[in-house]
Amino acid sequence: MIQENHIDSAIKELFGNLTFTQEPRGLYDPLRYMMEIGGKRIRPRLCLTAYALYKDAFCEEILSPAAAMEVFHSFTLIHDDIMDKADVRRGVPTVYRKWDENTAILSGDVMSIESYKLMAKAPAGVLPKALELFSKTAAEVCEGQQYDMDFEDMDFVPMADYLKMIGLKTAVLIACSAKMGAIIAGASDHEAELLYKYGYDLGIAFQIADDWLDTYGDPKVFGKAIGGDILNNKKSWLMTRAFEKASEETRAKLLEAMAMPIDTDQEKEAKIATVKAIYAELEVAEEAKQEIVRFHSQSLSHAVALDLQPEAYGLLENYAKKLIGRTK
Ligand code: IPE
Ligand code: IPE
Ligand code: MG
Ligand code: MG
Ligand code: MG
Repeated sequence: MIQENHIDSAIKELFGNLTFTQEPRGLYDPLRYMMEIGGKRIRPRLCLTAYALYKDAFCEEILSPAAAMEVFHSFTLIHDDIMDKADVRRGVPTVYRKWDENTAILSGDVMSIESYKLMAKAPAGVLPKALELFSKTAAEVCEGQQYDMDFEDMDFVPMADYLKMIGLKTAVLIACSAKMGAIIAGASDHEAELLYKYGYDLGIAFQIADDWLDTYGDPKVFGKAIGGDILNNKKSWLMTRAFEKASEETRAKLLEAMAMPIDTDQEKEAKIATVKAIYAELEVAEEAKQEIVRFHSQSLSHAVALDLQPEAYGLLENYAKKLIGRTK
């Protein structure tokens, strides 16, 4: 079995050595920028962790597909920042702000293709399976992103619909990363499926944490602007739960808050403060924390079902613990 410190060094080496086409610079510089500013790299890490459960060493056949997960994810972020009008990511200006929207669209497009080139380096024997999973996942992420935008214009979104939306936009890619590692390592279908479920529940917990951090995080650590979800009328976990819990009167207040103008910095601050006051009254922030813990435990139940040696289980347990303890 591969040890955790070996996974750390493999990630460092992998992204240190990743290179992309040079010209035209206008197309590839934003891609390089996005990869070089880093990020937590949780998806390739999970892919390597799942592989590590079954194998004794890393090689090209898993490293490239693991990188594909991160390149695909980073591509979705470039487009997501246009959609969410976000100025800062990973502590630096977003691609569409540093360059422009057209650049961000096209660099994002080529980045998604780069991710397929990396995925295609999976071993020939499992390549059809790997590509099928990757393509299905990629389409699901787009579906989730569409629901996320559709929900901005809806007053009320049932919790089940919110969970389905974040399942698609976030959890499936994390689940796919785990399953991909298992498939490439030659694990059984049953094991690959359990790892998918482990990743999926962790992904749900991860997105609820992201929603929490978007309102209550420290912008210096989080690397993104705080309050963006509120300004965009996003149906975050906090907003969804607030609507679910609110009395008629409080619902009316939430609707009024969502209609507040955000043309100036002062107006933006006022809108964020108004919504936060309602969240405080309804105590939804505390509940979000409990939900994160609940999905975290649920994810570990799938890891337990894998019936691994204690050391291997420890890899999954540690990974989950780090993910859930996120402050960025
Ligand atoms: C951000 O993902 C988008 C979500 C799914 C919440 P990450 O939080 O993994 O972003 P980076 O890659 O570390 O910047
Ligand atoms: C993004 O969700 C999910 C994808 C990019 C697919 P968010 O919009 O919440 O992610 P952040 O907060 O901008 O990173
Ligand atoms: Mg978004
Ligand atoms: Mg966003
Ligand atoms: Mg977010």
